[in-house]
Amino acid sequence: MTHPVFADVDTGVDDAMALTYLFASDDAEVVGIASTAGNVPVHQVCRNNLGLLQLCGLSGIPVSQGAEAPLSTPLRTAEDTHGPQGMGYARLPATEQRLTGHDAADAWVRAAQSHPGELIAIAVGPLTNLALALRKEPALPTLLRRLVIMGGAFDYRGNTTPVAEWNISVDPEAAAEVFGGWTAAWGGRPPAHLPIVLGLNLTENIAMTPALLNRLATAAGVTADPMSVHDERGARSASANPLIAVLEDAMRFYFEFHHDQGEGYLAHLHDPLAAAVALDPSLVECRATTVDVELTGTLTRGMTIADWSNRWGREHNALVGVGVDPGVFFDRFIDRVGAFARQVGS
Ligand code: RIB
Ligand code: CA
Repeated sequence: MTHPVFADVDTGVDDAMALTYLFASDDAEVVGIASTAGNVPVHQVCRNNLGLLQLCGLSGIPVSQGAEAPLSTPLRTAEDTHGPQGMGYARLPATEQRLTGHDAADAWVRAAQSHPGELIAIAVGPLTNLALALRKEPALPTLLRRLVIMGGAFDYRGNTTPVAEWNISVDPEAAAEVFGGWTAAWGGRPPAHLPIVLGLNLTENIAMTPALLNRLATAAGVTADPMSVHDERGARSASANPLIAVLEDAMRFYFEFHHDQGEGYLAHLHDPLAAAVALDPSLVECRATTVDVELTGTLTRGMTIADWSNRWGREHNALVGVGVDPGVFFDRFIDRVGAFARQVGS
């Protein structure tokens, strides 16, 4: 069965891989893309989303521009992690495709209202535009079939501050509104569909390596020497497949960043896991709990807290991912994206 899917992204390297996974999945029809400021400024996110569609030979998928900045704080970006244009060393093709005339919050509401009860959504950047959409349409949670959020770190260290994960840290107010809005939308009745929330505690189990990237190239019908930390930094892919070449150039920057951080020559695929889970929640083990976000802590602002012992006595508002088998995920990712890349390159 093909499901309508809406993706809110701050494209970025792993966002691009998440979008590619959705494009590659027969059980997904991407009906809209919301561009959110985060890894890079929102106009660059828009360019990356439009350029990726052009590269993949896709048209007719509406891309909307989101807010320039978080709800109440200046924008911070992460070019050190994702590269000056957000796609590592990769360069995407120019495109004639244009943005929609409405903003990302409107795009959320329009997509949900066009597919009531059926829309599957992922939010894998700061939650700014999802929060703005909730303000426009407080019943949004009741219109979605499923929501998967990549964000937070549960009983686990942060990647932006010692306790905060990037997507939440960029716009903690938006995240608090989203987690608060989910309970409110159901008027005290147990929500039929709690958002699945994948934090770093889970997504950092999904580590792309040069060997796995090589498996992807092979699945796409092209061969390449596995990348190595000993390669010249910034060396460009020589792949004959245009999509594999872009993913390799994007990944090399991401590998170098993780290596420089002391995490190894690898790259955590946070957002692709969210995309895969959106289409198949059985890929992860989740626990229902109440999640909230620290907004005023001097040292802890942006921290996500899961009330596992129900100390707060509040309704559950999230299914927090606590277990995943990386091998199952990578087999599926490589099968789908490899076959799709072969199609793009044919
Ligand atoms: O912390 C990881 C998240 O922040 C991912 O979504 C990555 O793309 C960045 O947005
Ligand atoms: Ca992201």
